Amino acid sequence: MSGMVGARRPIVAGNWKMNYGPTEAHDFLARILPDLEAIAGVDRVVCPPSISIAAAHALTSASGVMLGAQNMYDAEKGAFTGEISPLMLRGLCDYVILGHSERRALFGETDELVNRKALSAFAHGLRPIVCVGERLEDRDANLTERVITAQVRGSLANLPADRLNELVVAYEPIWAIGTGRAATTQDARDVIAIIRALLDELYGEAATAGVRVQYGGSVTAANAAELAAGPLIDGALVGGASLTADFVTITRAFAEAKQAR
Ligand code: 13P
Repeated sequence: MSGMVGARRPIVAGNWKMNYGPTEAHDFLARILPDLEAIAGVDRVVCPPSISIAAAHALTSASGVMLGAQNMYDAEKGAFTGEISPLMLRGLCDYVILGHSERRALFGETDELVNRKALSAFAHGLRPIVCVGERLEDRDANLTERVITAQVRGSLANLPADRLNELVVAYEPIWAIGTGRAATTQDARDVIAIIRALLDELYGEAATAGVRVQYGGSVTAANAAELAAGPLIDGALVGGASLTADFVTITRAFAEAKQAR
């Protein structure tokens, strides 16, 4: 049943954003990898900048830790200066973050483009982590549900219903990103419940039971245990705290919460 407690394997992903070139990526991963590897019961994903993915892969390939990209273009190849293709990521990455609010706000990505990218990820065997989230103005104007609904319908249209267990959705309220002001656990659960209901409506409950919905936005070593404790929050998409060993602590919190269920 959709939303069933403990039915889904949690996934904790670190979005490094524009931090750590190849050498730094290698050094940082070498430092945290043994502890990260030792954590059972949770999918652990690290998302370096694209130029550092190969250096990271040299370390993670023999480990249980998976890699994700932070973005990609939907086409396989061609005259798309500066873009990265799904074919280039395949073999290095299991996951790809798509439609992060920074891509939407700073680089003009629309739901329509994010949807094309998500379809391309499925077509190329990459698991998309599709981000949605409202601005503070939206929340203050009671528009959260409307904004999230448009993003989910637009970004997650026409996906292969029989493979939705490969889909991860990240609920990242924009006002919580990089602000130190995380959503309350209840606010996060309320919006995630809306997202799950929309997915059920689009694809049917049987198809969506395996979709994992993460929370992202100022997740820290201090608040991870509370976010992880209850139902509905299937993991975290971590920005700033994924650049330090706090990422291990956060991942462990989700593993322990899973065990406690
Ligand atoms: P912070 O954890 O730094 O708030 O960033 C969240 C985020 O945007 C992850 O994708």
